[in-house]
Amino acid sequence: MSDIIGPDFNRKRVLSGMQASGKLHLGNLVGALANWVRLQEEYECFYFVADWHALTANYAEAKGIKESTMDLLVNFLAAGLDPKKCTVFVQSMVPRHAELHLLLSMITPLGWLERVPTYKEKKEELEDKDLSTYGFLGYPVLQSADILIYRANYVPVGIDQLPHLEITREIARRFNYFYGEILPEPEGLLTEFPKVPGVDGRKMSKSYGNAIYLSDAPQVVEEKIRTMTTDPARKRRTDPGNPELSPVYHLHKIFSTEEEQDWVVKGCVSAGIGCLDCKKVLIKNVFSVMEPIWKRREAFLADPGYLLNIAREGSEKAARAAGETLKAVKEAMGFGL
Ligand code: TRP
Repeated sequence: MSDIIGPDFNRKRVLSGMQASGKLHLGNLVGALANWVRLQEEYECFYFVADWHALTANYAEAKGIKESTMDLLVNFLAAGLDPKKCTVFVQSMVPRHAELHLLLSMITPLGWLERVPTYKEKKEELEDKDLSTYGFLGYPVLQSADILIYRANYVPVGIDQLPHLEITREIARRFNYFYGEILPEPEGLLTEFPKVPGVDGRKMSKSYGNAIYLSDAPQVVEEKIRTMTTDPARKRRTDPGNPELSPVYHLHKIFSTEEEQDWVVKGCVSAGIGCLDCKKVLIKNVFSVMEPIWKRREAFLADPGYLLNIAREGSEKAARAAGETLKAVKEAMGFGL
């Protein structure tokens, strides 16, 4: 069955990608990857490493792209994506994305791109870089091409990506208005745990330096949790605390059982347990999520040839699906000699 070329008409399509820039952390795992893993059981899923997108802000230091791409692939598989159940590929290995990007760029009004909230925000945030480039402004057009070329029904993303999804839908609508109903409008699938706190209580993010990475060794993870911020008003072991003010409790909500969470709340407000007791249980639970990932990471890192094969086979499969859409798009637009 899996060798049939073309869409699987019985299952809806899911597509998502991650930019190849930097390491993955627990926030990415529970916010996105765990959801991708669940979806592969039910939908026809395409997941990819957006290596071209990494260029949009980092064009001047592109050298590390191959390594970041491989690292992201390792994490995809280590987190539980199974190439037998879903298609895992690399954006630049399916150049048809670029062809659709070009065609979509012709119909995308500049005003739409300038109004995307992430455009201004990122540009200001990264003011040490010159991002007055065509590629940076066009980021959402490339993302639209990534999605529309598979005629994906659902796109599992974090809240921060919703503006990109909205413009994808607008571009699809405009295309369909000009050339006929070819491109379905995709819907976003928001994940259950959109916000994971980092060790300092702010949102976990590599730019805040508060993240627990999938590549961190067990001792590093343990140390990061042991030294986490807790309720700042609970200065002594005998002071009662407020768990809501402690990021440790918020991580318990994600990684621990209801009974353990009850134990944390009761112990904290009554000063029955100390912060280290509370953290030890969290360490145990984070470890049980990370242990299989650590094992798989090690196995994949030891076998780069296997990874490369997965990327090649996945990219070929993706290219076939992309080719069908592109054919329909070009015919609709009047190309096709
Ligand atoms: N913009 C996404 C991110 O920053 C990556 C991405 C590129 C993407 N193309 C996509 C996500 C298509 C979903 C669908 O992580």
